[in-house]
Amino acid sequence: MALSEKESVAGDIETTVSEEEARSKDGTCPRVLSQEELDGLRGERALVSDFKLMKLEKEAQKNWDLFYKRNTTNFFKDRHWTTREFEELKARREFESQRLVLLEAGCGVGNCIFPLLEDDRHIFVYACDFSPRAVEFVKKNPLYCPERCSAFQCDLTSDDLRENVPQGSVDIVTLIFVLSAVHPDKMTLALQNISRVLKPGGVVLFRDYGLHDHAMLRFKAGSKLGENFYVRQDGTRSYFFSKELLAELFAAAGLQSVANDYVLRETVNKKEGLCVPRVFLQSKFTKPGQSESS
Ligand SMILES: C[S@@+](CC[C@H](N)C(=O)[O-])C[C@H]1O[C@@H](n2cnc3c(N)ncnc32)[C@H](O)[C@@H]1O
Repeated sequence: MALSEKESVAGDIETTVSEEEARSKDGTCPRVLSQEELDGLRGERALVSDFKLMKLEKEAQKNWDLFYKRNTTNFFKDRHWTTREFEELKARREFESQRLVLLEAGCGVGNCIFPLLEDDRHIFVYACDFSPRAVEFVKKNPLYCPERCSAFQCDLTSDDLRENVPQGSVDIVTLIFVLSAVHPDKMTLALQNISRVLKPGGVVLFRDYGLHDHAMLRFKAGSKLGENFYVRQDGTRSYFFSKELLAELFAAAGLQSVANDYVLRETVNKKEGLCVPRVFLQSKFTKPGQSESS
């Protein structure tokens, strides 16, 4: 897959755009587009047929599973930035050895969880994905051990997480580049599912594609499935979020916004001599109610 179709892949270097450029003045707009980019977006035509839409939805799990068959564990980079970007992963404790329970929803092959497990001895991680192959890769990782991690297969939009995770037991849910892969009509179902296992006072840490990300502008008209929703060559799909829509989706699942901002980055691939502007949405939502420790 070429640079930037997915967010951060092996071989890419991500650089931070200066703070002035990184956030629009009032934090409400994603990246400002050039005339050429605007024309490209306006010129998008043909949405695909209902038949193709249904087929893609029916085969969503299969297409991600095939993605992991082709790429095994080599596609995404380990996400060593999570503790830097989300201080909750460290700070949500009253004392250093307090055990934190985390759910990585849509864990892929574990690029997010294994750096965390390596870094923090007092963390227990539930990790789920609807791709059976991805879950197998997680279980085969040398850092996987059942005392500290429980990986299981689950479609967030249709399988009740409570079959594997006790209700109201999770301190932190990480949702990293996952909701964008879910059909917009089913996003609320996934968030409601997550909300049921979150503790009152618990938090969802979210990062995903933002509106006008470079990957969105690269799609050709035939890849457009709906508003801000596209399909890649391999059948996996991607939604590009505005912060307003994201806040509405979480509110519909009973979760309150704590932070919700666009983050601008540049992804550089030295080998291919490319530098492209990225837009991500980074957000935190909390479940109302008091945590037991507060
Ligand atoms: C871009 S990967 C991100 C993986 C991981 N969160 C990370 O940060 O490396 C998106 C993952 O979401 C999973 N996924 C997509 N839709 C899902 C659903 N409805 N239920 C569970 N997992 C899903 C895919 O199988 C894929 O592994």
